[in-house]
Amino acid sequence: MSVKPDKSLAVAGSPDPVYTTDFGSAYCADSREFLSRIPDSSVNLVITSPPFALRRKKSYGNVSAAEYIDWFWPFAEQILRVLKRDGSFVLDIGGSWNKGEPTRSLYHFDLLLRLCGEKGLFKLAQEFYWYNPAKMPAPAEWVTIRRVRVKDAVQPIWWLSKTARPKANNRWVLTPYKNSMKELLSKGYNAGVRPSGHVVSKQWGQDNGGAIPPNIIQTSNTRSNDPYIRACRERGLEIHPARFSERVPEFFITFLTRPGNVVVDPFAGSNMVGQVAERLRRRWISVEINNEYVVGSKYRFTGATIK
Ligand SMILES: C[S@@+](CC[C@H](N)C(=O)[O-])C[C@H]1O[C@@H](n2cnc3c(N)ncnc32)[C@H](O)[C@@H]1O
Repeated sequence: MSVKPDKSLAVAGSPDPVYTTDFGSAYCADSREFLSRIPDSSVNLVITSPPFALRRKKSYGNVSAAEYIDWFWPFAEQILRVLKRDGSFVLDIGGSWNKGEPTRSLYHFDLLLRLCGEKGLFKLAQEFYWYNPAKMPAPAEWVTIRRVRVKDAVQPIWWLSKTARPKANNRWVLTPYKNSMKELLSKGYNAGVRPSGHVVSKQWGQDNGGAIPPNIIQTSNTRSNDPYIRACRERGLEIHPARFSERVPEFFITFLTRPGNVVVDPFAGSNMVGQVAERLRRRWISVEINNEYVVGSKYRFTGATIK
C-alpha cells in the first residue's frame, strides 16, 4: 500500500511542534494537558513507556509506587478518549523493587487491575514481555553482592484495547520458519493426536509464509553509536537513559496498525516510536516534557523541519 507523506497532524490549540517530518510532529509539552487537545476517537495506537515508579529516582521525574495509579489515571482517561473504537494502547511498564529488601513491588499489577478491572477503562487484549538479555544485574546488593536474586531481564508490556476486538493481524508480524519447521513443511506433517492430547490437523503442515510469533519480544538496547547517540554526544545533549529498543515499537506498530494510521507516544523521550512510525509510514505525534530530549530526538530524522 503506498501512503503519501502527510503533515496534517497539527493539533489545534497546542504549541508549535519542535520539529516535523514527512509523517509526524514532535511536541515539547506536558502530555496531561496536550492529550486533551487531540480529537476524540482519532488515534489508532498509543504506544508508550511512561516514567516508572522506581526505588531510585531517575533524572526524568519518576513517581513513587504508592502514588503511581493516581498520577497515571488522568493520562489513561485521555488515552481512552482519543483512541478509535478498534484502537490499542500498548503500555511498557517496568517492575520495581521494594525499598530496603529483596522483594518486588506490586504497583504495576495494581495499575493493570485498575485499568482493566471491574471499573476499569480498557480490556487486556494480551500481555507481552520484553526480554532484554543485556539488562544490568541490579539492584547490586541483592543480585551481585549478596547473590540472593537473579538478573531481572523481562519487562511487562500490556496490550490494552478499547473493545474486545482491536485491529490486529498476526500475519503482519510473521517470523521466518525455523529449519526444523521448514523440513516438516517439505516432508509433510504427521497429523493425529499428540501425547499432550493436542490434535494436529493436516492444516498444520500448510506453509503460511512464516511462524506466528510468541508474546515475548527479545531485543537489547546495546547500540552505543547510532546517529542519535552520536549527535547528542557531539552537541552535549543528554542521551535519554531509558530508550526503547527499536524492535519493540516496530513489532506493535506493524501488528496493530496500517500505513497512514495515527500513532501517538505521550511520553516520547528520545522518540524511538516516531522514528519507527516514520520508517513504517504511519502518521505520528510525540509529546515529551523535557526540551533537551526533544531537541536530541530530532537527530533521529534526516531532513526534519525545525520550527
Ligand atoms: C521511560 S521515558 C520514555 C523513553 C522513550 N520510550 C524512548 O524510547 O526514548 C519517559 C519519558 O516521559 C517523560 N515525561 C514525564 N512526564 C511527562 C509528561 N507529563 N508529559 C510528557 N512527557 C513526560 C520523561 O521526561 C521521559 O523522557
